Amino acid sequence: MPDDFRKITPDADHGFSIAAPPRRFGTGGQSAARRDGLAKVTGAARYTADVSPAKALHGVIVSARIARGRVAAMNVAAAMAHPGVVEVMTPQNRPPLAQHPDEKRHPFNFRHEALQDDRVRYAGQAIAMVLGDSLEAATEGARLLAPVYEAEVPRIGFDAAEPWTPQMVGFFAPATHEIGNIAKGLADADVVSEITMDTPAQFHNAMEPHAIVAEWVQEDGRARLLLDTPNQGPVMTAGLLAGYLGIAAEDVVLRTPFIGGGFGSKLMIYGAMVLTALAARAQGRAVKTVLTRAQMYGPVGHRAGTRQKLTLGVARDGRLTALSHDVQALTSSFEDFVEPAGRASQHLYAAPNLAMSHIGLRGDIGTPLAMRAPGEASGSAALEVAMDVAADAVGLDPLEFRLRNYAEVDPSTGQAFSSKALRECYAQGAAAFGWAGRPLAARSMRDRRGRLLGWGMGTAQYLCTMYRGEARVILRGDGSAVAEVAGVDMGQGAWTILAQTAAEGLGISPEKVLLRSGSSVLPDGSVAGGSGHTATAGTALSEAGKDVVKQLTALALNDPKSPLFGAGNSGVLAVEGRLLRADNPAVGEAYVDIMARAGLRDLTGTGVGERAAENAEKYAMFSHGAVFAEVAIDPDLGQILVTRMVGAFAAGRILNPRMVQSQLEGGMIWGLSFALHEEAVFDPTSGKVLNDDLAGYHIPVHADIPAIQTMTVEEIDPFVNALGVKGVGEVGITGSVGAIANAIRHATGYTPTKFPIRIEDLP
Ligand code: MOS
Repeated sequence: MPDDFRKITPDADHGFSIAAPPRRFGTGGQSAARRDGLAKVTGAARYTADVSPAKALHGVIVSARIARGRVAAMNVAAAMAHPGVVEVMTPQNRPPLAQHPDEKRHPFNFRHEALQDDRVRYAGQAIAMVLGDSLEAATEGARLLAPVYEAEVPRIGFDAAEPWTPQMVGFFAPATHEIGNIAKGLADADVVSEITMDTPAQFHNAMEPHAIVAEWVQEDGRARLLLDTPNQGPVMTAGLLAGYLGIAAEDVVLRTPFIGGGFGSKLMIYGAMVLTALAARAQGRAVKTVLTRAQMYGPVGHRAGTRQKLTLGVARDGRLTALSHDVQALTSSFEDFVEPAGRASQHLYAAPNLAMSHIGLRGDIGTPLAMRAPGEASGSAALEVAMDVAADAVGLDPLEFRLRNYAEVDPSTGQAFSSKALRECYAQGAAAFGWAGRPLAARSMRDRRGRLLGWGMGTAQYLCTMYRGEARVILRGDGSAVAEVAGVDMGQGAWTILAQTAAEGLGISPEKVLLRSGSSVLPDGSVAGGSGHTATAGTALSEAGKDVVKQLTALALNDPKSPLFGAGNSGVLAVEGRLLRADNPAVGEAYVDIMARAGLRDLTGTGVGERAAENAEKYAMFSHGAVFAEVAIDPDLGQILVTRMVGAFAAGRILNPRMVQSQLEGGMIWGLSFALHEEAVFDPTSGKVLNDDLAGYHIPVHADIPAIQTMTVEEIDPFVNALGVKGVGEVGITGSVGAIANAIRHATGYTPTKFPIRIEDLP
């Protein structure tokens, strides 16, 4: 079937399959192109908003226009009088939930608004839901509700928010940590340098807005919820949602074959998801809800604004004597997520006295959430500027200063690194960029057009997260295979890479592997987040493939009719669909022959992807990199243009160089965006985000983005997981923000105190 590869339809049991495209599309080998690429460019890929069950109702969420107070009245009668409006759901008539939305049973089980009462906790919060026969009718009904508020003055921004001391930051990290003694380290220093840095609230702004299509069906005498929605953790989310709905986890089928960007915003349950499922149950009809772009500014998370202080003590020889990273992070009034920005400085440079602290600042905003490189993106931005300020204070080149403080072991824990090729990243990145010969003094380089030139660098680092994932691989009698995992492709290439890992474990070519994925009915590959998806789901698939090989081996070795009979002592190799004697690879047998003789039509293997506990205990595990940037600044206008970026990264084994390059480039572009563009502006009076669309919320366009060169250096890591892969999804942002800020510092002499850096900030 030549066109099979572009047909993506749900299988009978709600999984999805994408076969490998034919090789004429240039998709063979380790650098295989995306399996979902053709489906996407031909429009065959269906996103949730493309799913339209017959007779579906349309749900429209009504969003609060104040940030603090209560809803005193809504004109429900006017909305219900609209001929196309079917129902108006408010706190008065919302069907009961089995779990209160403010009850917390799981770290990822965020408190949210599902019409539990009439309080307003932030602008953009759901205060009602209107169901209509058409999107237009529901939208008009929502307008007719005309809510009347009792508003209180909202607490917006660093000065108005209320400080609170958290125990944990992010999902799992401790809020404070100190080794050695900072005061003593600073007393020992020849120079103490201190910077403060503000980073703004940023919103994930995935291309695809959040969307939910919910339909209840009767299967085997019980009600099951079919839920189409883009989600980064399908099995986890199905289970958590089942808790609210009072049904068994396996009775929520969450389908998420394609995600138009997640970046963390599609990790959590949010009000519209719960309400859409409830509405569909109450109405006995499918309900479809698609958030508007503006409705993504509040209920589905954002990167928290932070205020950071870094204090560095340095000896005259350029060695750090102390490094203290103190963070204040804005958060909501009702949930505890605190941006773990201090983490960025705790595992990177060899300061003998090292500390971090975090304060949460509660205000009347939606809860912030993990956003690509949570913690490290904001933390590294401040840290890398602080490093350049300190390097200047002792008259050292920024790269030389970082090398003098190179950590041979994790400075925070004393653990050895499972692998760390950061020195090679520095060397190769610097060589490719041409860093040698950079003058120390600021304002000392100009281009031919008279623009001030600056060169800056930053170190990239991100932790190698690994969860526990499961997978299944089924080898068929014809030598092809089906690999099954509830994996998530939010654009990063999981459809392709996960098939590669299954093929590798199984010892067949990736083109022979059909991947079934994107649905909670499949084995739980865990969440796509924290740069840990390939490590987790990929390892599980590889192990499942190896399990099949183990079973084939047992069949062959014990069968006198097999040429491998009795080869047990020397072992076998699994290569291109054949088992070969390890001591004589000329002798072997094809999988299909082993199966045929055993009368097997298929053979199923299972696998678990999980970090070995002894390695997790023994080693610190991080991806690393070195980012170099050049900026050109108009001396009269202050216009900043990034003219070159080079990033060299060490991330263990590189499974698919093409995918990895995309991830690293994407991360570096995000770094540029952080440094110069992105900022959500909250109105202190209303608490609303004023620039809640892609016209007002700035991101870089092509003209802002220079030629970007990425490279990966060789790094073999036997401890991180069986595949030897680290993460690449987030490390590209870290280092990049600081590299650009430091290049601006070098061009102008101006030390930024906030991001984004704008024309008007420059001297
Ligand atoms: Mo990422 S912020 O872990 O989706």
